[in-house]
This record gives sequence, structure tokens and C-alpha cells, in this order.
Amino acid sequence: MTAEPSQLFLRACLRLPVARTPVWMMRQAGRYLPAYRAVRGKVSFLELCKTPDLACEVTLQPIRELGVDAAILFSDILVPVEAMGMELRFTEEHGPELPVPVRSAADVHRLRVVDADAELGFVMQAVRQIRAGLPPAVPLIGFSGAPFTLATYMVEGGTSKNFVDTKRMMWGDPAAARRLLERITEQVVGYLTAQVRAGCQALQLFDTWAGILSPDDFDRWARPFAARVLGQVRAAAPGVPLIYYVNGSGAILERLRDIGADVLGIDWKQDLAEARARLGDGVGVQGNLDPVALFAPLAEVEARVRAILDANAKRPGHVFNLGHGVLPGTPVEAVKMMVDTVKTYG
Ligand code: CP3
Repeated sequence: MTAEPSQLFLRACLRLPVARTPVWMMRQAGRYLPAYRAVRGKVSFLELCKTPDLACEVTLQPIRELGVDAAILFSDILVPVEAMGMELRFTEEHGPELPVPVRSAADVHRLRVVDADAELGFVMQAVRQIRAGLPPAVPLIGFSGAPFTLATYMVEGGTSKNFVDTKRMMWGDPAAARRLLERITEQVVGYLTAQVRAGCQALQLFDTWAGILSPDDFDRWARPFAARVLGQVRAAAPGVPLIYYVNGSGAILERLRDIGADVLGIDWKQDLAEARARLGDGVGVQGNLDPVALFAPLAEVEARVRAILDANAKRPGHVFNLGHGVLPGTPVEAVKMMVDTVKTYG
């Protein structure tokens, strides 16, 4: 794990010199791709996550169709939450739903921390199959939700707008909230290290909702647990690049600089050059095209992609990506324009 990798994506994550900027997309396997919809037409989303042959197939689709420089395991951040003992379903209208949310110390006490190889073996089997099916130049990214973001789903019972129940628990029963975050932290460390043993070559920690916290609450409720995950995974898997993503991190960027990640995901609401100036040279960045920009005319897509590459100004440690996941309905030609523009940028 100490030799310098040759793959563009891994090199950029480690801020090593690269011949060109690598590119992949969050949610790159998804409903905007006709080939994904064909598979998804036959099985539910959770069945897809739990069937290694199918998870492998949809993970490889964007590699074949778009030529992106990294693959990301097809699963969902809530899959290990179900293994911890929570009922989980996905509906077309509401997305994820956890009908029995965690609201009290007793609820937290009922959650299990499971052995990921035993209880999430279908994920590890998918990782092995995907790795075997990928060209050597294309690394496989594993992922998990970060403790705070997973806790929001567990406490709210699904996607939320104002996160009232999460904050009510943080402030009204801080001991239970802390215990919940500690349990999740332990589960996430075990889950991510199992993914590396199965064949993942980089990891992304999704703290999508940590941007809804005040800076002070971020320091109390998100940062320490994410830092613990990153530190423990780093110790168990030295040399594996770690990416930390928060949507809406513009107000807390300096707080992320030394959280323990090699790369920070940057959303589109901040300027990439300014973000890099604020972060300094000790950490790489990933991003940051507005996912909705892919609905613009192709010439506009090309101009915006080039503007981001110009903003990075050839500094080492840039992975091109969207600022959040690709949206359903995104035109595939626009995605191809984005990928090709990154690949041919002089
Ligand atoms: O990036 C990838 O291609 C890997 C697969 C992946 C999915 N979800 C597939 C998915 C990853 C990395 C995720 C992460 C995830 N899931 C996050 C964090 C990143 C982010 O986007 O903020 C979150 C918050 C979730 C929870 C989740 N899963 C929601 C809110 C939804 C519903 C919204 C939606 O897009 O439908 C999902 C469902 C989901 N996860 C789908 C996919 C492809 C759509 C399911 C379908 O096919 O119907």
C-alpha cells in the first residue's frame, strides 16, 4: 500500500502529478441511464442493492457508457442502517423511509453493531465481483454515510427539511444522541474496513446533511464522529485515499481542512478557486459542477466544465465531479460532454 499508484484517480486523490484531471460522478449509476432503468424495471431498489450480480452490472454501466475514471460501488448509505436493526423501505414518492425511528435512549440501546462481512456479505460479494470486472486503470470507490448524516435518517425516519427531531434529540437528550453517533461510528468503521478488504481502493464518507448545522453544532455533532471514522479507517487501511463530502460546506470549510480526509468534496455553491485558497495545499478537492448545469445547452455545459478546470489552475489534488449527485432526467449527452471536456482539456 506504500507504492505510488498509477491510476489517475488515485494519484489525484493523493495530490500526485497527473497527466490530466480524473472525472467521475456521484450517483453515476442511476435513473438517468436507460441501462439502469432496464435493470431497475425488474427489481426493487433494495433487491438491486442486495443482489451482487445486479449491483455489479449497474456499477459497471457508467464505466462502459461514459468512460469515467473511477467506479463507485452501487448500494445506498442506508443499507448498513437496516443491518443495525431498523426497518427500511424505499418508495417512489418519498425516497427512503424508516417507519420506526430512533428517538430515545432505549431506541438507541436496541441498535446492533454487526460484523460487516457476516451481515453485509452481499455488499462485500458485490465489491469482489465489481473489482474483477473493472479494467485495472479504473479504481473502485467504496462508501458509507457519515455518522451525523446517518443519524438524521434514523431519527427523522426519512429525508427531512428542517431536521427538527434530530436537533431536538441533540439538545434535549445529548447523552442518547451521543450514544447513537458512537454506535453508528463503530458500525461505519467496520463497514468501510470490510469494503477495503473486499477490494475497494478509495473510500468516500457522505456527510450530505452536516451543512445544515451551525458551525458550533458541526464541531459537536458531526466533526468528531467523522474524524474518528477517518482516523480509524486510515489506521486500518493506510494508503487508501479518503474523501469527505458535505453538501453546503461553504461556511465551515476551514473546519474540514484537518478532519483527516485526503480529499474534500466541494458543492457548487462555492467557487473552487476560493475553496482551494481557503483550504491550502494540504488537502485535495473534488467537484464542483452544479448538477442542474447538465440540463443546460451543451455549449454551456462545456463552458462551465472548463471554467472549473480553469479555476483549479492545474494545482495537484483535483478530482472533477458534480457538487452533488446526478439528477434523474439528466440528459446523457450532457454527461458525455462533461466527461469528454475534462478528458480533452489542455
Ligand atoms: O454514487 C453512486 O452511483 C453509488 C450509489 C449511491 C446511491 N445512493 C444510489 C441510489 C450512493 C453513493 C448513494 C448515497 C446516498 N443515498 C446519499 C448520500 C449522497 C447524496 O446523494 O446526498 C443519501 C443521502 C442517500 C439516501 C437516498 N437514497 C435518498 C434520499 C434516495 C431517494 C432519492 C432518489 O434519488 O431517489 C435514495 C435512493 C437511491 N440511492 C437511488 C439510487 C440510484 C434511486 C433509487 C431508484 O432506483 O429508485
